Amino acid sequence: MTTHNNKLFIETVGCQMNMLDSELVVAALRQQGYELTEAIADADTVLFNTCSVREHAEHKIYSALGRLKFSKRARPQQVIGVLGCMAQKDQELVFQKAPHVDIVVGTGQLAEIPRLIDEARVSRQRAVAVSLNRREGTRTEVSGSFQSYDPLREPAMRPSPYQAFVRIMFGCDKFCTYCVVPMTRGPEQSRNPTDILKECRVLVDQGVKEVTLLGQTVNSFRFVEDGRTWRLSDLLAAISEIDGLLRLKFVTNYPRDMTDDLLQAVRDLPKCAQYLHVPAQSGCDEMLKRMKRGYTIAQYRDMMARIQTTLPNAAVSSDFIVGFCGETDAAHQLSLDLIREFRFKNSFIFKYSPRPGTKAFDMMPDDIPEEVKRQRNQEMLELQNAISEEDNAAFIGRTVEVLVEGMSKTAEKRGETDATAGPVQLMGRSMCDRIIVFPGNPRLAGTLVDVQIADCTPTTLMGEIVTREYQHGASMLLPILA
Ligand code: SAH
Ligand code: SF4
Ligand code: F3S
Repeated sequence: MTTHNNKLFIETVGCQMNMLDSELVVAALRQQGYELTEAIADADTVLFNTCSVREHAEHKIYSALGRLKFSKRARPQQVIGVLGCMAQKDQELVFQKAPHVDIVVGTGQLAEIPRLIDEARVSRQRAVAVSLNRREGTRTEVSGSFQSYDPLREPAMRPSPYQAFVRIMFGCDKFCTYCVVPMTRGPEQSRNPTDILKECRVLVDQGVKEVTLLGQTVNSFRFVEDGRTWRLSDLLAAISEIDGLLRLKFVTNYPRDMTDDLLQAVRDLPKCAQYLHVPAQSGCDEMLKRMKRGYTIAQYRDMMARIQTTLPNAAVSSDFIVGFCGETDAAHQLSLDLIREFRFKNSFIFKYSPRPGTKAFDMMPDDIPEEVKRQRNQEMLELQNAISEEDNAAFIGRTVEVLVEGMSKTAEKRGETDATAGPVQLMGRSMCDRIIVFPGNPRLAGTLVDVQIADCTPTTLMGEIVTREYQHGASMLLPILA
């Protein structure tokens, strides 16, 4: 047997669910003695945690895999693993497209990774570990095959040591006609609130200040235990009680399940961010019907009115798909109108990408030319950016409370780490999830500060820290004493 090093390289694409899964995989491998490296060329274990939501995301991974073909020849001891949504979707097909891959591990088998890597290294046999396809068993059998993953946590893999994701639901049952997620993530299952609370407490003990609850349709959360039904609002109330936690968020919301009890919980629980991501996908009823989204624009409008009444200061963001099957110019105009009407804080805009295995792929021709998709995408983005900038400008002169996440990207790029040389550029977010950058000492990371806003772009507010004492006119300490 050839010897191998313990260096692990992992690349993660896709949504927050994948970022969380990568954290869990790395935590398990660290326990086995693996060490993370950023240099793929040094690693004898290379993992890709993949996404299938659009074709582009898959291409990216297959080209990265292609580049490894030669390095694998030089490093026969290397184990290459494809994990996550594309693994579940493509299964053995991964080996056809990338013959040097050793293991293919679906979203429900991530807990088996340490064993699968060891076995592949010794036997040099390929292995596939995936869940049942949705029609391959009863609902209970299929759900069971997307087993839950024991939450060993790994602080080093988080976006910042003060922020963490917590999964509250697996899978999705909505079956929007364009979407692969119900196939790649399996049936919708809510996690036990006792486990969720335990995980949140562990995270807060590790220093986490902000928890983001994750689910594909997070507000569909429902768990019945001892005759009591837990809704997302009940869970938010229970998690809010954890001392030391400063903020609580949840994504992604499904418009039809945006109930009043949830909006009231967000209003009444001071730790809840005043921020809701509720994708509309289109402004046209005909498109929504073809997408099988389960609501009309009138219903979405009613939901927005309820949000605005209960949470007048909340920011709402959305996702849109442009160029879906049969999208006319008039339908596209209706999506633009929706952005104008609701002035979303931001919108993620995607060009429709037909996905094998979905209803739209089988039943509806992808009839909008790429060039038209591109133009519509551009038009939506420009409109949304103009609105985001206008609404951000309304913050100029105001003071907002910011949870400091750490250094800004610019400061990191410039390599500004030496606080003794003066303040560096920090970044954090407001209660309504706006990104704020300002000068300050990096030790403020993980704390709440008040920042007075002086300038903005469509995506960012810029300002200066103001101390509360100063604001209220209380005496300031002399700099010499400070
Ligand atoms: N569960 C979430 C998000 C799922 S995927 C929700 O229901 O909102 C994230 C976004 O990707 C979706 O909101 C949708 O806008 C986009 N998306 C999903 N499938 C797509 C496809 N086939 N082509 C283009 N965009 C897609
Ligand atoms: Fe996909 Fe629709 Fe489920 Fe979101 S709700 S994950 S878009 S099927
Ligand atoms: Fe992609 Fe899977 Fe998330 S398909 S968007 S990584 S659930």
